[in-house]
Amino acid sequence: MNSTRVSAFLLSALLLLVLFSRQSDATRSPGKSVKPKDFVSSTCRHVKYFDVCVSTLQSSPESSCADKKGLVLISLNACIAHAEYTVAYAQQLMNNATAVASTGDDGDYAKQCLDDCLTQYADALDELRETVMDAMNGTYDSVNAKVSAAMTDSESCEDGFAERPGLASPLAERNAYFSKLCSNALAVAQLLS
Ligand SMILES: *[C@@H]1O[C@H](CO)[C@@H](O)[C@H](O)[C@H]1NC(C)=O
Ligand SMILES: *[C@@H]1O[C@H](CO)[C@@H](O)[C@H](O)[C@H]1NC(C)=O
Repeated sequence: MNSTRVSAFLLSALLLLVLFSRQSDATRSPGKSVKPKDFVSSTCRHVKYFDVCVSTLQSSPESSCADKKGLVLISLNACIAHAEYTVAYAQQLMNNATAVASTGDDGDYAKQCLDDCLTQYADALDELRETVMDAMNGTYDSVNAKVSAAMTDSESCEDGFAERPGLASPLAERNAYFSKLCSNALAVAQLLS
């Protein structure tokens, strides 16, 4: 017997096993499942930021065999990862006098804003981490409330900079992207609730 064929057979058997077990709670039957890429884009058709949705979901290797719940979890994890990245960036900025000065402020006010942002993103992260459990046990109204709260935290961060005329928010781009990721995660979760 050709050993390449045997291992190819074993590999596809394993793949089927993984696919079937992941779909155990899905309403789709494995027999008529659509192609993964189509599933991602058909899901993303329901969100406001389609391109962000597709790139978020496809950047996760798990999306190729995820069911809808899996796509919700990937979307939530993208929000969490971006919040963590924003916290790290804000911390780096606070310790960089050149960066603080380039916001157009003497420094103290901008630093205070950054400090407030760290607090707001810490709250957002607490909420977002809870949503992973909520999504796994299917309490989507709780996912909705917590992701919305996290979006408000990020808006408060941005508002801090906006309150002082002439001050440029060094986190503007990151806050805006966070808002898109959260909006998409809400919409994907909405498909299941
Ligand atoms: C500090 O900020 C400036 C301006 O944003 C940047 O060019 C520089 O690389 C930063 N330095 C460090 C150590 O991060
Ligand atoms: C779902 O998980 C959350 C934890 O975030 C918990 O508070 C809630 O009671 C759980 N709900 C169910 C139905 O298990």
